[in-house]
Amino acid sequence: MHTIEITIPSVINSHSEEETISIGKQLAEKLQPGDVVLLFGDLGSGKTRFVQGMCDGLKVDEPVVSPTFTIINQYTGTDGDNEKFRINHIDCYRLKVTDELIDIGMDEILASEDISVIEWPQIALPLIRDAYWKITIEPGDGEFERVITIDHVMTDDNDCSGD
Ligand SMILES: Nc1ncnc2c1ncn2[C@@H]1O[C@H](COP(=O)(O)OP(=O)(O)OP(=O)(O)O)[C@@H](O)[C@H]1O
Ligand SMILES: [Mg+2]
Repeated sequence: MHTIEITIPSVINSHSEEETISIGKQLAEKLQPGDVVLLFGDLGSGKTRFVQGMCDGLKVDEPVVSPTFTIINQYTGTDGDNEKFRINHIDCYRLKVTDELIDIGMDEILASEDISVIEWPQIALPLIRDAYWKITIEPGDGEFERVITIDHVMTDDNDCSGD
C-alpha cells in the first residue's frame, strides 16, 4: 500500500481497515498541541480504527481501544522533540446532552494543549469554540470501502448578527 499524502481538504477512498488506519496516521503528522479532531460516521464506519492510526502516528505505546463505555480514554503521545503530551479519546455515543460533557470536564479538555479526538461528536459541537479537524467516514461501494473526508474548519458559532 502506498503512503497517502493528505492535502486539506481531502476526500480519500479507503479500501480496507489497514488503509483507514494509515490515513489516521497521516493526519497525525499535521496535528498541533491543542488540536481537536471530530469524527463523524455511523456505527462500525471505522472511527476507532482511524483513531488507532492517529495514535500510532503520535507514538502512543499502549493499546488504543474504544471508549464507548468509559466515555474517555487518555493516552500519552510523544512529539518529534521527545516531549510528552496527552491525547483524549472521547466517545459521546452513550451521552444524551451537552451538559454531561461539561460534567466530565470537556470545557477544560478543549481549552487545554492536549490533542482531543471525539467520536459521535454532535453533542460536543456547542462546546467547540475554535477551528477543528472535521473527519467524516461514509460507506463506499463494497463492504470494505469507505469514503473519508478530511477538512480543517472554523466553528460557525461566531455569528455576530444582533451586535
Ligand atoms: N475500510 C475500512 N476502514 C475501517 N474499518 C473497516 C473498513 N472495512 C471494514 N472495516 C471494519 O469496520 C469496523 C470498524 O470498526 P470501528 O470500531 O473502527 O468503527 P466505529 O466507527 O468506531 O464504530 P462505533 O460507532 O461503534 O464506535 C471494523 O470491524 C473493521 O474491520
Ligand atoms: Mg468507535
